[in-house]
This record gives sequence, structure tokens and C-alpha cells, in this order.
Amino acid sequence: MAEYRQIDNALPEEEKYKLLIKQAESLLDDGLPLLTNLSNITALLKQTFDKISWVGFYFNRGNILYLGPFQGKTACTTIEFGKGVCGKSIESGETLVVEDVEKFPGHIYCDADSKSEIVVPIIENGTKYGVLDLDSYNLAAFNNTDKIYLELLIRILSEKLNLDKLERLMI
Ligand code: SME
Repeated sequence: MAEYRQIDNALPEEEKYKLLIKQAESLLDDGLPLLTNLSNITALLKQTFDKISWVGFYFNRGNILYLGPFQGKTACTTIEFGKGVCGKSIESGETLVVEDVEKFPGHIYCDADSKSEIVVPIIENGTKYGVLDLDSYNLAAFNNTDKIYLELLIRILSEKLNLDKLERLMI
């Protein structure tokens, strides 16, 4: 594994994301188990941004999202398609940026201190694999910069890894 260098906390967010993308590219290795790759991606995000209180994956099996690798407090284990921010994102295929979770109808609280959230769907060739979910204790912690770079991260992840292996992780 390439040596990991902590990304300087004082850098502007966009610069941090650019470095994070480079590190993700060197970390991701389809020769490793999918679980190994995905776990490190959650750690990379959490250790790069102080604003993240929780980051993790939820994966689809039969139109129900199941909790995957994450960093943070214990979380909801299942979310139905169409429910909560995660379920709405996977259903619509859109990234959802929620500035104030209290104002999002149907938002699911896994942590009562959560204030804002971004959810990026993971969809490739029409297959809905799941979502990447990030939460913050700050209001409006996520914006268009997060959307652009997190979507890029998911594109890289989908290109570098065979996500069909997920099926075997979801038994
Ligand atoms: N808030 C999410 C649920 C997942 S947790 O935040 C980890 C939602 O409304 O879908």
C-alpha cells in the first residue's frame, strides 16, 4: 500500500479533495477484497474532513439499503428505497445535499446530533449498487464542491473496482 500522508487540515476544501482523489486512486486495488477497499475509503474521508461526523456506505439488496463499511457511531442497519435521504437518493439517482436535516421530510435520524448531510448514489450501467452517505454536526456543512468531488470519487471507485462483487458481500 502506498504510504498515507495526512492531508493538511488548513488547506482549502477543494485542495483537500484533489489530494484525497489522488490518494483514493492509489489506495483502490481491485486485487484486494471489495470490503478492504471500501473500508479505507470511509477512513480516508473521515480523517480528511473534521466536519464529517459519520461517513459510510449503504448497499442495495432487493431495494433495501443495508449498512456497509463506515466510520462513526453505530447507525441504522436498513433503509428502504424511497425512505430518508439515502432511500430518496438511490431511488432518484440524484446526489442530495441537505443543509438542515430537520427540514428534509422523512429524514432518518441515526444520530440525534446530525445537522446536515450529503448522499451520493452509486449507480453503474443502470445497476443501483447503493449510496455513500456523509453526515455533519454542523448546519450546511456540504455544498456543491462536496457534490462534485464525491461524485468524482464514486466514478473512480466504480471504474477501478468490480462492484458486482458486492453481491457476495450481501449474503
Ligand atoms: N440520515 C440518513 C440515514 C442514515 S444515517 O445518517 C447514517 C437518511 O435519512 O437516509
